[in-house]
Amino acid sequence: MKTRGPPLKRYRFTAGATRSGRSAAAAPWQTVRGARRHIRRARVRRPLSGRSERLAPFEPFKTKVVERIPNPSREERERALARAGFNLFNLRSDEVRIDLLTDSGTSAMSDRQWSALMLGDESYAGSRNFAEFESAVRSITGFPHVIPAHQGRGAEHLLCATLVRPGQVVPNNMHFDTTQAHVAHAGGTPVNLPVAEAYDPESEYPFKGDVDVRKLDELLAHEGPERVPFAMVTITNNTGGGQPVSLGNFRRVADVCRARGVPLYLDMCRWAENAYFVRTREAGMEHRSIGEIGRAFFDLADGATMSAKKDGLVNIGGFVAVRDAGVAERLKEVDILYEGFPTYGGLARRDLAAVAVGLQEAMDLEYLEHRIGQVQFLAGLLEDAGVPYLRPVGGHAVYLDVTRFLPHLAADALPGQALVVELYREGGVRSVEVGSIMFGTSGATDHRPLELVRLAIPRRVYSSAHLAYVARTIIAVHERRASVRGVKMTHRPERLPHFTARFAPL
Ligand SMILES: Cc1ncc(COP(=O)(O)O)c(C=O)c1O
Repeated sequence: MKTRGPPLKRYRFTAGATRSGRSAAAAPWQTVRGARRHIRRARVRRPLSGRSERLAPFEPFKTKVVERIPNPSREERERALARAGFNLFNLRSDEVRIDLLTDSGTSAMSDRQWSALMLGDESYAGSRNFAEFESAVRSITGFPHVIPAHQGRGAEHLLCATLVRPGQVVPNNMHFDTTQAHVAHAGGTPVNLPVAEAYDPESEYPFKGDVDVRKLDELLAHEGPERVPFAMVTITNNTGGGQPVSLGNFRRVADVCRARGVPLYLDMCRWAENAYFVRTREAGMEHRSIGEIGRAFFDLADGATMSAKKDGLVNIGGFVAVRDAGVAERLKEVDILYEGFPTYGGLARRDLAAVAVGLQEAMDLEYLEHRIGQVQFLAGLLEDAGVPYLRPVGGHAVYLDVTRFLPHLAADALPGQALVVELYREGGVRSVEVGSIMFGTSGATDHRPLELVRLAIPRRVYSSAHLAYVARTIIAVHERRASVRGVKMTHRPERLPHFTARFAPL
C-alpha cells in the first residue's frame, strides 16, 4: 500500500515534564503569567533546530506472542467502507491495518495476567479470585465495598439505577457518552461543567479536565442536595481530549460538594494516567508515587465507577467501589438483577484475577512513561508536519482538531466523520469521531461540542513504527485536505448514535 507525505525525521523525545519546587497553594497555572511559564516547562520539547531528532519512547516490555496485522488493499478498503455504511464501527477487524478506535479493552495482557487467568476459580459464589480483586481495589482506592460489573457502563448502570431519580441533575467535568446515556436513562439530566479552557483546542492549559468550581457551586446552591444525587469527576476527561484533572481542583470540588451536602464520585477509568500527569505537572507532586496520588483523589470521594478495560489493563471488567455500606447493599441488589452475583458481576472469575494484577501494573512508572510517551511521540510527528490537534496531548489518545483540519467543511457536512472515513481510506487506520455525532443531541452542555477525531492508542500493543505509519497516513490526508468531501447521515439511531448510524458521501 502506498503512503505519501514527507520522509519522517529522527526525533529526540523527552518523556514527562520538569520539576517544580513550588508549594501546592501557589500552583503556577493559577495566574496567567504563571501558567504560561509552567506550561512552557511542562510541554513536550520541540525538536532542536538543526538537530531534528525525536527518539521513540523505550518499551519496558518485550514480545512473547505476536499477531499478524492485516493489510487490506485500496479496493478492499473502498468496498469495506461502502458495506459498513461509512461507519467504522461496522468494519471487521481484518479490514483494519492499525486499529485506534479505542484504548478500551484492547490492551495486551502481561505474562503475569495470563498466568493469573490459569488460576481461575470459577465458583459461582465466594471465588478466591473475587477476594484477590476486592483486595486490590480496596488497597488502591481505600473504598471498603467493591461491586463488580462486566465493564464501565455496567458500573454506571448500577450507580445510576441506584441513586438517580427522574428530574434530578448530575454534574460532571464532562460526561463520557455512556455515562450521560445512563444518567438520562434513569431520568436525570447530565450537566457538563469544565473550565473554559477545555473548549479551546489551542490552549496549552495543563489541566483541561478541571471542573469550573464556581459554576458547580452555583448549580448545587440552585438545585439543592435533594435534586443532585451525586456529582462526578471523570479522570482523565476522555470527552475533552483525555485531559487530566489536578489534585488542587479536585480538592476544591470536594470542598464544595461537602459544604452543599452532595456525594462525590469519580469515573476512575484512567486514574493512573491522571496521576502520572499530576506527578509531572502539578507543583509539589513530583516525588509522590502514582499510588499515593491516586489515593489522594479517592480519599476525597464517596465512591467511583471503573471500566477496568482502561487502567485495569484487561480486555473486560469493571466495578463500582463505595464508602457507604447502605449504598453498597442497594448496589448489590441491582448487581444481582442485571450483572450477576456480587462475587462475579457478569465476569468469569478468572477475569477478576487478571484485573487484580492489571491494576497493580498500571501504577508502574516505567509503564506510564512509555504509555504517555507514545501519545506524545505521535503528536510530535504531527506537530512537525503542521497537523492541527488538541493541545496539550492527553493521556490515551491524540485528538485531531477537525475544525482546523477541514476548515472548508461546514458543520452539517459532518467533518469529523468525513475525516475518520478518509484516514481509513488512505491507510486503513481506524479512528472515531468525538464531536457533534457522538455528543450532538446529548443535552449535557449548552456549549457546542468540540469537533475532534480521536486516535486512541491501545496499551502495550503497537510499536513506534506503527505510530509513525499512522502519522504518515494522517499527514498524507492533511496534504490533500482540500479534496476531502463531507458525509451525511442516512440512518440516525435514537441513543448513542455513533455506534450504529449509517452515512453516505455528499
Ligand atoms: C471516561 C469513560 N467512562 C466510561 C466508559 C465506559 O466504559 P466501558 O466501555 O467499559 O463500558 C468509558 C469507555 O471508553 C470511558 O472512557
